[in-house]
Amino acid sequence: MIDGIYPANSEQGVPAEGIDFFRHDLGEAELDAVREVLNGPILTTGEQVARFERRFADYLSRKHSVGVTSCTGALHLSLAALGVGPGDEVITTALTFIATATAILQAGATPVLADVEADTGNLDAGAVKAAITPRTRAIIPVHLYGQMCDMKALQAIASAHDLKLIEDAAHCVEGRRDGVRPGELSDTACFSFYATKALTSGEGGAVVTDDDGLAERLRLMRSHGMNKTANDRFQEGYKHWDMPIFGWKYNMDNISAALLLPQLDRINANHAKRLALAEAYVRELSDIKQLSIPARRPDVRHAAHLFTIQVDPADRDPLLDHLRSRRISAMVNYRAIHLMQYFRAHLGFEPGMFPVAERIGDSTLSLPFYPNMPIQQVGAVAAAVREYFGK
Ligand SMILES: Cc1ncc(COP(=O)(O)O)c(C=O)c1O
Repeated sequence: MIDGIYPANSEQGVPAEGIDFFRHDLGEAELDAVREVLNGPILTTGEQVARFERRFADYLSRKHSVGVTSCTGALHLSLAALGVGPGDEVITTALTFIATATAILQAGATPVLADVEADTGNLDAGAVKAAITPRTRAIIPVHLYGQMCDMKALQAIASAHDLKLIEDAAHCVEGRRDGVRPGELSDTACFSFYATKALTSGEGGAVVTDDDGLAERLRLMRSHGMNKTANDRFQEGYKHWDMPIFGWKYNMDNISAALLLPQLDRINANHAKRLALAEAYVRELSDIKQLSIPARRPDVRHAAHLFTIQVDPADRDPLLDHLRSRRISAMVNYRAIHLMQYFRAHLGFEPGMFPVAERIGDSTLSLPFYPNMPIQQVGAVAAAVREYFGK
């Protein structure tokens, strides 16, 4: 569709093909970058991955970034490389994508959930403190929707109790809070390059850290614990390799890195576009008293990954249906994870344990939001929401 041009019969500005929740902006630059990989000898982890890792670490002003196949893998590897495992408890938020907690299970540790701040949905530092036991080994805050948690408070708790701090920054490449960026106050920050993320290779992820030894362990552990890679064999010829430590198969490949590299040139421009869309949503929706928008803390540069609103739980699913009937695609990020069947059955969670996360999980919906979304469509989405509330 051409930006801003709607078919004559469109309904309140909704184009005939509807309004997508997300569309990637990958194009010629990415095709050229992938072509370069296909013209070379190494499809797996090699030169493009190293280039991406250097540029991503530089973007975040961190010493190291390690490319992996997902944020879930990044979280799992971070825990394992920091020595967190069976018998250990890891505190995280009840309001996140399940992967934050399943990565803890994959490491053999036990997820301990804590409730969230009512106005932002981010992990509540007070609730984290209250959840600490003698078995606690780590905290994983999640920068929900792109707004960073209070990392200064969480780092103070972690250092007072000798806990590891791992950021789930899947939503927060561009964020900053109180002058602090992801990876700055933690052991590692983990990123996702999943299909709908700010940087995407369809599937992918990265760990950033300032710790040289940890970066080295992460590099070994993402590739079976092997001390030579396929690229080393290509560059130096075959040399016997060994397996000094245990590892998994999480290494990023050159095709994924090639898709990511050109996106780093657009990262600030795309972020600015999303911020402008978020501002437009706030403006357009501000007169609808039946909804609220998560608070933004002062001194926050919001990464603006998702744009969410909250409505009365009785209205949430009917509003989703109404938007669908108007060909507008909306989602839910997220229903509280302690209510998921598996966690209830295996970790003993019950409804009511994390009431704030539960209430937000029952009231939230995510509206269409991606950098090249025509700004006029924000008005069309707002009009459909207003129509639902009979205004
Ligand atoms: C908050 C959060 N954590 C972790 C993940 C997992 O990321 P990936 O799909 O790259 O494993 C996601 C993905 O959507 C996420 O939103």
